[in-house]
Amino acid sequence: MVILITGGAGFIGSNLIHYWLAQNPGDTIVNFDALTYAGNLANLAGVESNPNYHFFQGDLRKQEQLDEVFQQFSIDSVIHLAAESHVDRSINDPSPFIDSNIRGTFQLLETARNHWQEDLKDHRFLHVSTDEVYGTLGKEGLFTEQTPFAPNSPYSSSKASSDHLVRAWHHTFGMDTLITHCSNNYGPYQFPEKLIPLMIRNCLLGKELPVYGDGLQVRDWLYVEDHCEALDVVFHRGQSGESYNIGGLNEWENLSMVRHICQFMDAELGNSPEQSCLNLIRHIQDRPGHDRRYAIDASKIQNQLGWQPRHQIGEGLEKTMRWYLDHQEWVEQVTSGAYRDYYKHHYGTG
Ligand code: NAD
Ligand code: TYD
Repeated sequence: MVILITGGAGFIGSNLIHYWLAQNPGDTIVNFDALTYAGNLANLAGVESNPNYHFFQGDLRKQEQLDEVFQQFSIDSVIHLAAESHVDRSINDPSPFIDSNIRGTFQLLETARNHWQEDLKDHRFLHVSTDEVYGTLGKEGLFTEQTPFAPNSPYSSSKASSDHLVRAWHHTFGMDTLITHCSNNYGPYQFPEKLIPLMIRNCLLGKELPVYGDGLQVRDWLYVEDHCEALDVVFHRGQSGESYNIGGLNEWENLSMVRHICQFMDAELGNSPEQSCLNLIRHIQDRPGHDRRYAIDASKIQNQLGWQPRHQIGEGLEKTMRWYLDHQEWVEQVTSGAYRDYYKHHYGTG
């Protein structure tokens, strides 16, 4: 089977490619990625020489590049991850989110439909979405697959829009589609604009740790490899037209997460109490429209497809923090140049 993975040079996409080639050695993977600031081929070192892996630099917004990749590789199925993915950037400038996440998904669906029109039902299209489409929770309750969409940020609303397109292409045209809604991921290769790698990097650099508002917002954290396994399970055993929530049952307040990272880094760096990274925590102005709490009910995928996370949060976080300590060159490489301008613009400090 030839599978097109879009966004394969990003955080989850690159983890998925490593995972997939190891778990499904008979498949061929074509990685379609525009290599935006978030895409990095260094994430794929180690698989580049695998004859079952191909990279195609292409942009979802460019129809001719989509046609070319489908023709060149006779694509059988799609796992669609490519997207603009950072909420803060979507607040600073929503436009690329509309172009890549909505228009890009539309063009990908249409390209797949055209290329598969003879036997549309024999080709799977798995769309990777987020729990953020459901909006925000109060202190109680969990997101289920029945929770109505109520996205609050330009990012989540662009993802919700793309989900609706995928749903409609199933109902109207009979495409064999699946949608997943996953909670916050963490693990190797995550771009250091997101909470966990940003805090690890800043601890190493002795920079301030910017916590939005009171820091009591809650996220449900899942180790990225567990997400990859869930995508594998949904792709192979999911029911056409269905959506599946994926989550870690691991709710953490942001401030507790940041403190946990500080304590680990203090031990690693041999910091005295006066040098503790805890002293670097700064409460800064809250993110506009900040969702208070996300938490996933993953009982559907658990009961119907037998998936559950393998990693406990302690183990996953330790693996992640060690990975960042051991890959400081990677961090340096991806954060050079444009990221520094973004950081300065967004946080007001260098
Ligand atoms: P990421 O930002 O790390 O990677 C996105 C990748 O998509 C990059 O390699 C980028 O170059 C590529 N890309 C962006 N626009 C493109 C375009 N127009 N054409 C081709 N390639 C393009 O994102 P991520 O964290 O790996 O997330 C991947 C997917 O998973 C996204 O769809 C996101 O919404 C979803 N998701 C992420 C999380 C999370 O916690 N990170 C949780 C749930 C769902
Ligand atoms: P983030 O990693 O951007 O993921 P998302 O917004 O998609 O959940 O942020 C996770 C949480 O951490 C979110 O509540 C915002 C908060 N946060 C901070 O407090 N400071 C920061 O510098 C960042 C990037 C995030």
